[in-house]
Amino acid sequence: MSDDKAVTIPAQTTGEPSGGAATLTKDAAPGEVLLKVTGLKKHFPIKKGLLQRQVGAVHAVDGIDFEVRSGETLGVVGESGCGKSTMGRLITRLLEPTDGKVEFEGRDITHLGVGAMRPLRRDVQMIFQDPYSSLNPRHTIGTIIGAPFKLQGVTPEGGIKKEVQRLLSVVGLNPEHYNRYPHEFSGGQRQRIGIARALALNPKLVVADEPVSALDVSIQAQVVNLLDDLQQELGLTYVIIAHDLSVVRHVSDRIAVMYLGKIVELADRELLYKSPMHPYTKALMSAVPIPDPRRKNAKSERILLKGDVPSPISPPSGCRFHTRCWKATEICKTTEPKLVELRPGQQVACHHPENFADQAPQDTVLLTAAKEAAELVADEVLAESAQTSAAVAAEVAEAETEAETPEAAETPESPEAESPEADAPEAEVSEEEPPAKEK
Ligand SMILES: Nc1ncnc2c1ncn2[C@@H]1O[C@H](COP(=O)(O)OP(=O)(O)O)[C@@H](O)[C@H]1O
Ligand code: SF4
Ligand SMILES: [Mg+2]
Repeated sequence: MSDDKAVTIPAQTTGEPSGGAATLTKDAAPGEVLLKVTGLKKHFPIKKGLLQRQVGAVHAVDGIDFEVRSGETLGVVGESGCGKSTMGRLITRLLEPTDGKVEFEGRDITHLGVGAMRPLRRDVQMIFQDPYSSLNPRHTIGTIIGAPFKLQGVTPEGGIKKEVQRLLSVVGLNPEHYNRYPHEFSGGQRQRIGIARALALNPKLVVADEPVSALDVSIQAQVVNLLDDLQQELGLTYVIIAHDLSVVRHVSDRIAVMYLGKIVELADRELLYKSPMHPYTKALMSAVPIPDPRRKNAKSERILLKGDVPSPISPPSGCRFHTRCWKATEICKTTEPKLVELRPGQQVACHHPENFADQAPQDTVLLTAAKEAAELVADEVLAESAQTSAAVAAEVAEAETEAETPEAAETPESPEAESPEADAPEAEVSEEEPPAKEK
């Protein structure tokens, strides 16, 4: 039982897929649906006055559908306040949903009580954002990592101490440090302790809520790579939440983009990066400086999002992004776009998607706010970005010859936002290569 190092922890990932050979794979076969979420909502009531009357609600999560398949990593991204943590706490059942359904391994767990949830707590674990506040400073790390065994009344073979020491080495820490206290460790090491605790009971699903956001950038990659290595070694399934695409970029199989309590795009990682279809995804991507030598000449690949995320207490009508979207037209204000699969492996909720035929071609007059937003994005930036879009659209089309052929959006009006895209000739594919995929 005391194999010292179950996993070696390289400083940088080798980028090599393991071929899926998991040593400890459990029940659900890889690819099977492990978690299924339907119409999930969480509204936090806002109460006022002596009588604590409910005067409104924070629509933190407002009707989302997705699945998590066994063995995959689903990345969830979006700006702060868009409901990612609430979603994470709903699917781990740390919060009670207001509406909708959560199924784990085919079983409805939406409203299970504390007692009924207990056995499930072994299978579903959460890693929290802040490795400083999430570890009790008065407990040794041995006690912290061993706590799940005591809570569940489980005695591992060889005893708790031995198992904790094994877990410490699995996450790249010295097993001798069993008796030390959290303050004796750095942020990165503390997050490893949090990971060891989450893995103690051999969970099937691990939900990591911004697991590296509180860490130095130099440490972030190490912890992300550790999660990746552990997944390959242990056959884990992850939901990894991040506010930033740079974190989930390398480790996710699929990515869900959230905006104000909704999923606006859900796509295979490669499709999302090569050819984002929701304007919000595109803006999120251009907000992150991605170090890619092939793109160093693409100097101004940026779309500035105007203003803050609107309040989730009274979210904008129609498409919630219409107050900040440079492509918004009247229909965006009045009609909520449904999340539909526009391409195999790519679901999008937008009337005027990028890299695809317009879903509302009759509606072409930009809203005033959209005109202003488009002005913020300099013409040349839009042109350049549109060129990239056209190029990636062409490339994806090539890769999917027998599948449907995506077209560049065709919009007679709204020149600021649209025309460069329509102008970009397909011949320019080679000039602007899309970012390479690293995994
Ligand atoms: N317990 C709560 N009570 C009331 N509002 C909450 C609560 N938790 C979160 N919220 C609100 O729900 C929205 C979504 O929050 P959160 O899920 O933490 O977003 P994210 O993790 O994406 O930053 C925010 O407006 C937040 O203020
Ligand atoms: S084009 Fe319309 S539907 Fe699409 S994201 Fe912008 S506002 Fe929403
Ligand atoms: Mg959060």
